[in-house]
Amino acid sequence: MKYLFIQGSPRLNGNTATALKALIEGLEQEVKPENIEYLEANKLFITPCQACDSCKTNGGICVQEDETNWTIQKIWDSDFIILGTPVYYWGMSAQLKLILDKLYCRNDQFKRSQEKRIGLVVVGGNRLTDPQYSIIDVQVSCIADYLNWRHVFTNSYSAYKIGDLARSEEDLEDLKNLGAYLGHEHHH
Ligand SMILES: Cc1cc2nc3c(=O)[nH]c(=O)nc-3n(C[C@H](O)[C@H](O)[C@H](O)COP(=O)(O)O)c2cc1C
Repeated sequence: MKYLFIQGSPRLNGNTATALKALIEGLEQEVKPENIEYLEANKLFITPCQACDSCKTNGGICVQEDETNWTIQKIWDSDFIILGTPVYYWGMSAQLKLILDKLYCRNDQFKRSQEKRIGLVVVGGNRLTDPQYSIIDVQVSCIADYLNWRHVFTNSYSAYKIGDLARSEEDLEDLKNLGAYLGHEHHH
């Protein structure tokens, strides 16, 4: 079982990164570090899909000269993809959406391949009663259904300034427990 984390915030030490790192700490109780990979969406050079549809006639290769194919191959090679995103204007970050749009290159291949698992961690400044968290959760669920992936969890947290989540013992504990649970339930 290979785990791929994609951290969607440009703040490399912000709340989303803190959340994913706490989850990984729990996961590492059960899973060897070599089976866990962590990508930062903001560091990847992914240009927006131009809808040229070249990928539909060339076997799923994006013709843009960026890091799309490398990134989509990382997803292809993983069994469990865990997305982390800050809430930006009631949605996921653009950095993360740029990557998800590129799943389009290999839609048919993904649909036919072995079922992948996907999880989602969302961090926003607003309270958890804000509809933004379910908006993002539903979007990821629809993507998972479309690709025949299993949407295993969505966990949402409220934190605003850098360091806010790192000060919430309760949230960190929750994330570590989630990581340990995922490692235990899904690894074998
Ligand atoms: C461009 C931008 C848009 C944002 N939009 C929202 C929003 O719609 N709802 C919300 O609750 N917080 C919003 N925020 C606040 C972030 O979600 C919040 O600061 C979060 O903790 C950022 O996570 P990070 O530290 O991982 O970057 C926004 C922040 C930025 C920079």
